[in-house]
Amino acid sequence: MSTLTGKTALVTGGSRGIGRAVALRLAADGARVAVHYGGNKVAADETVGLIEDAGGRAFAVRADFAAADAADRMFEQLVPALDGAGLDILVNNAGIGSTNPVAGVTAAEFDELFTVNVRTPFLVVQRALPLLNDGGRVVQIGSVASTRIAVSTQIAYTMTKAALDAMTPSLANELGRRGITVNTVAPGVIRTDLTAGHTASPEAVAGLSAITALGRLGEPEDVAGAVGFLAGPDAAFVTGQTLDVCGGNWLGPIIPA
Ligand SMILES: NC(=O)c1ccc[n+]([C@@H]2O[C@H](COP(=O)([O-])OP(=O)(O)OC[C@H]3O[C@@H](n4cnc5c(N)ncnc54)[C@H](OP(=O)(O)O)[C@@H]3O)[C@@H](O)[C@H]2O)c1
Repeated sequence: MSTLTGKTALVTGGSRGIGRAVALRLAADGARVAVHYGGNKVAADETVGLIEDAGGRAFAVRADFAAADAADRMFEQLVPALDGAGLDILVNNAGIGSTNPVAGVTAAEFDELFTVNVRTPFLVVQRALPLLNDGGRVVQIGSVASTRIAVSTQIAYTMTKAALDAMTPSLANELGRRGITVNTVAPGVIRTDLTAGHTASPEAVAGLSAITALGRLGEPEDVAGAVGFLAGPDAAFVTGQTLDVCGGNWLGPIIPA
């Protein structure tokens, strides 16, 4: 029997990138996975198909996190699909980026970033609370960008991730007596659609690798491994923490021997 057999997980933004790798990992560990997506049904169906082809169980749910009623839309689809089983794992992963410098961030962009990356994830947590089984897990996907800047023009994005970071210890304290853990996984630069603009440039890749102890960018599976640990039984006494998954960004000068 796998470690998550009998458990149900919701992975927001499970259609692509890090979320897809997390969905595949949790399903491989035995969980039934609700794969949330915002608009890319083809990608969400592909994630579900990959899980099913590997012998797992999954279904897709849609909600545009930029919409005011996104959490309502999500749970309208999720609750009937759970068949009364409740939720054991919530991975708050869906998010959008921004590469504008401070002077270029419009009020509309700022509002959209905070709606998709902070407001809706907060409301999703609220709506998930009555469904979350005791002993459950919440994993937030933050970013090392909120504390250690790798790309200089991400100011509004880093602010949203700092807000998500700040939610983790408070929520962990509120839910701890139910045995529910809440942790943040903070990725460094990971190769996904979100970072395609940077990873397409060999100079950018070289520069980012040069400030990373492990000397490379991350892959979605690198993040999924950490989420799998925090979602599993081995992390039952870990809560309110942030786990950086960045290959060691900015640990100091790398001096050739
Ligand atoms: N990649 C990195 O280097 C990196 C580093 C640190 C943190 N992160 C964080 O990791 C998370 C995933 O990033 P990623 O790199 O995997 O991004 P990605 O490849 O662009 O995937 C984004 C996911 O979020 C969903 N999403 C985007 N906008 C949405 C909206 N308005 N409503 C609902 N869902 C929406 C997408 O759904 P659709 O497929 O339907 O569009 C997709 O599943 C984000 O929170 C990001 O900030 C990423």
